[in-house]
Amino acid sequence: MNAPLVVATSIDWAAVRADFPLLTRLVHGKPLVYLDSANTGQKPASVIETVDDFYRRHNANVSRAVHALGSEATESYEAARGKLARHLNVRSDDLVLCSGTTFAINLVAYSWALPRLQPGDAILLTRMEHHANIVPWQLIAERTGAKIKVAEITPDGTLDLDALYAAMTSDVKVFGVAHVSNVLGTINPVREICREARRRGIVTVVDGSQALPHMAVDIPSIGCDFYAFTGHKMCGPTGTGALWARKEHLAVMPPFLGGGEMIKEVRFDGTVFNDPPHRFEAGTPNIAGHIGLGAAVDYLDALGMANVAAREAELLAHLLEEMRQIDGLRIIGTAKDKAAVVSFLVEGAHAHDLATLLDLEGVAVRSGHHCAHPLMQFFGVAATCRASLAFYNTHAEIEAFVAALLKVRRLLG
Ligand code: ALA
Repeated sequence: MNAPLVVATSIDWAAVRADFPLLTRLVHGKPLVYLDSANTGQKPASVIETVDDFYRRHNANVSRAVHALGSEATESYEAARGKLARHLNVRSDDLVLCSGTTFAINLVAYSWALPRLQPGDAILLTRMEHHANIVPWQLIAERTGAKIKVAEITPDGTLDLDALYAAMTSDVKVFGVAHVSNVLGTINPVREICREARRRGIVTVVDGSQALPHMAVDIPSIGCDFYAFTGHKMCGPTGTGALWARKEHLAVMPPFLGGGEMIKEVRFDGTVFNDPPHRFEAGTPNIAGHIGLGAAVDYLDALGMANVAAREAELLAHLLEEMRQIDGLRIIGTAKDKAAVVSFLVEGAHAHDLATLLDLEGVAVRSGHHCAHPLMQFFGVAATCRASLAFYNTHAEIEAFVAALLKVRRLLG
């Protein structure tokens, strides 16, 4: 991980952990050690209570009812958009709230790319993309005749920047890149990459799902065209997230889905669409979820993302040090700039067997292809186990995980 700017000594991390009710539970009679935050993050009580309070006291639809509850719901929903916008240093009007990264990237693919790409054009993607930043582009390539090009990585899981820039040829119209890899933890130098892409007239789509939980992200300083993310990995409810887009793109993008709320006037001989971001928010949104995401942003802002990054850097260093004790361990993804995500294999043990036996010890890790088949193909493996940390994990949990791994290793011979 990048060198922490702030040493997080002033924060009582035990008290922070106590904000997360689920972390006190037992699994198979053992204290839970939750190491699957890259899959979904746990939620602090303030987020759970905000969602609960919305349904108990304020529930109404947004942007359409003039009654008191309708106004309260609309105000809280738009306030959540404002909190997210401040967190990312962008304008609220450029932030389309949606169900998460998958929706956000599909919105770019169908609304921005589909009308523009043609045979002879190329879509450049990196080897380390999640399927959510691959499959929508394949569907668009099929419809437009554009082709997919791949920017390769080096064996430590770093983007090969020379190869990447060489691949940014004049046929490339759009480039998709993960800010942080969900499998490798690699933090890509998105600022530099987006600058190079922009110099060549290539539109950039950054998948920020795995970055926002770990670090402060200032979108304008990245210089991308689109930034997609999900709320549930950053302490928010599932089914939340957003697409940030440059104003000039949103202004010319046609609606992706049609329905209520995205219109100004509907007549049978034609419809006048609403302005962005509402033009892209057809139907009743996940109101409670996004208000909960606003509470998650409040929570993270109060902690300070620099403190979160510093805490996780310290936990990651401890985890990597402890894991050295395991014979036959292979870590996949050893980039210098790395978030607290560790994919690994243990010689002679299948990833799913490891994860299943670890679960019996109360340890939750993800096993499988992590929705990144092309990356598994690069490393020549079908699956890995992945331990992913968040600031609410503890050093004791890391030791418990490694003790469980040593025990499971012995069991599997
Ligand atoms: N949920 C996906 C993961 O676990 C993105 O990495």
